Amino acid sequence: MKIIESVLEMQQISSRARGEGKRIALVPTMGFLHAGHGSLMEEGRRRSDLLVTSIFVNPTQFGAGEDFDSYPRDLERDLAVAAKAGVDLIFAPRAREMYPEGYQTWVDVEKLTLPLCGASRPGHFRGVTTVVCKLFGIVQPTFALFGKKDFQQLAVIRRMTADLNLPVEIVGMPIVREADGLAMSSRNSYLSPEDRVNALCLSRALGAVTAAYRKGERDVAALEALARGEIASVAGAVIDYLEFRHSGSLEMQARADDATLLAMAVKIGTTRLIDNCVLGDDEDLLSRPVDPPN
Ligand code: PAF
Repeated sequence: MKIIESVLEMQQISSRARGEGKRIALVPTMGFLHAGHGSLMEEGRRRSDLLVTSIFVNPTQFGAGEDFDSYPRDLERDLAVAAKAGVDLIFAPRAREMYPEGYQTWVDVEKLTLPLCGASRPGHFRGVTTVVCKLFGIVQPTFALFGKKDFQQLAVIRRMTADLNLPVEIVGMPIVREADGLAMSSRNSYLSPEDRVNALCLSRALGAVTAAYRKGERDVAALEALARGEIASVAGAVIDYLEFRHSGSLEMQARADDATLLAMAVKIGTTRLIDNCVLGDDEDLLSRPVDPPN
């Protein structure tokens, strides 16, 4: 597995590979890799001749006062995880090469970025779409793989790719959860042992709503009350947003159907976690422990 820092070198390798008819898969990451990233790499490996993982903590998607400086970084460990998953190339550019002095070009998806994380984190998606667009230009992937835990990010990237006619197939992959239901995230490393237990209220809320939906409840107000009740049962859990929206348009919904997305961001202690489910999906949220551990 080779590590490439230079944009030009990455571009040259990719151009050569595309010229030889090779299929390139890209797994864009900010590092601190976990099994969720592993599942993207495995799928990328299956689909491609050349598997590239980018590791770049993108400064432009962090707002003032967010965790850019403290974002967990462990390149040694990441390299071991990526090598195990069969990654061919790690692209780890420097910020000063991605955003050199005088940089002034941005990609902005308008409507889909307004609600949910876009409302809580102004400018976040502009940073994400800009860096992903740049990565597409550099790595020239046939496929790019993203996790559904960042559901809105995936929707925004699909929109950008379609709107800009980028020749990349976007592949969305299921959320990978710990055995007790917590969605895997690099930010889980911030959780104290007590927070780690409290954080299960997110997946419990999804499980409670899914169970009620499967029993026939379609009233969003009733489903929302259930979810909020689960979060409220944990002292110190603070909801940033908890909303039911159409999974395609991200418009609000008053009646739930199979395409309804329940998306939430909840602060557990000082850590902001996100999670979601689409009510018609068959994700197995119900077999998880529903009662808080003692
Ligand atoms: O999901 C992430 O890790 C980041 O937002 C991404 C897609 C790598 C862009 O920096």
